[in-house]
Amino acid sequence: MGNVFAVTNQKGGVGKTTTTVNLAASLAENAKKILLIDLDPQGNATTGCGVDKATLEKSSYDVMMGEASAAEVIVKRDDFSFDVIPTNADLTAAEIELLDEDQREHRLRLALEPIRADYDYILIDCPPSLSMLTLNALVASKGVIIPIQCEYYALEGLSSLLKTVERVKQRANPTLEVTGLVRTMFDARNNLANQVSRQLINHFDKKVFHSIIPRNVRLAEAPSHGIPVVSYDRSSRGSIAYMALASEFMRREKS
Ligand SMILES: Nc1ncnc2c1ncn2[C@@H]1O[C@H](COP(=O)(O)OP(=O)(O)OP(=O)(O)O)[C@@H](O)[C@H]1O
Ligand SMILES: [Mg+2]
Repeated sequence: MGNVFAVTNQKGGVGKTTTTVNLAASLAENAKKILLIDLDPQGNATTGCGVDKATLEKSSYDVMMGEASAAEVIVKRDDFSFDVIPTNADLTAAEIELLDEDQREHRLRLALEPIRADYDYILIDCPPSLSMLTLNALVASKGVIIPIQCEYYALEGLSSLLKTVERVKQRANPTLEVTGLVRTMFDARNNLANQVSRQLINHFDKKVFHSIIPRNVRLAEAPSHGIPVVSYDRSSRGSIAYMALASEFMRREKS
C-alpha cells in the first residue's frame, strides 16, 4: 500500500494523535490530498479534527466490520483541507468481534483498496497497544511513523514494536518498513531528553527524522478547538515544527 502510513507506538501519550493530525494538516498545506483514519477507540484524532464523536452515524468500526465502505464513512471538512474517517468507543468492540472473522488482519487493507488512489497520503492514528487494530494498520501500510517521547522508558517498548513490524513484514506485508522515528514533546534544556535523543540516533541513524517536535502549548490547545495547530496558530513553534516534518517526510518519500 504505497501511500498508507501507520502512526504507532504502543506506549501511551507519546504524541501519536498530535503527530497524525498535524502531519496530515501540514501535508494538506502542501497541496497534498490527505485522508486521516482514526483507528483508536479513544477517538482523540476525531475530536482533534473537529468531528463530534457522539453524533457519528458511521465510523471506522463499520469499515473494519465490513458494514460500510470506506467512502461512505469519510467526513469531508470545509474549514481545513483533509478528509477524515472518524471513530468512537464503538471501535472497542471490533477488537473482539474481529477474532471470529476471516482475514481479520487484512480488513483495513482490503477496505482501503477502492479509495487509496484518491489520496497522496493516508495516515492512520493507532491505539496505544499492539492490538488487532494496530495489526490491521500495519498490514495496510507502506510505512510506520513512530513518535517517541525522549524520556527514560522511551526505548523500552520500541523493541517489541519493531519485532511486531518485522513479523508483519514476514507474514503479511513484505514491503512494510519503518519510515521514521519522530522525537516529540522535546525539551532541549532537559539532559535526559538529549541523552535519549543521542541513543536513538546511535541505534536508528537516518531513520530518526531531523525535525524535532518541541513541547509547545499551542499543540496541546489546538485539539480543544477541533483544529490542527497550523489553523490555530500558524506561527507557533509547534506549527513550524510539523510543517518541517511534513517537508522532510515528502522528501524521504520521493527518494
Ligand atoms: N509537542 C507537544 N507539546 C505539548 N503538548 C503535547 C505535544 N504533543 C502532544 N501533546 C499533548 O500530550 C498529550 C498526549 O499526546 P497525544 O494524545 O498526541 O498522544 P498519543 O500517543 O496519541 O496518546 P494515546 O496513547 O493516549 O493515544 C495530549 O494532551 C497532547 O495535547
Ligand atoms: Mg492517541
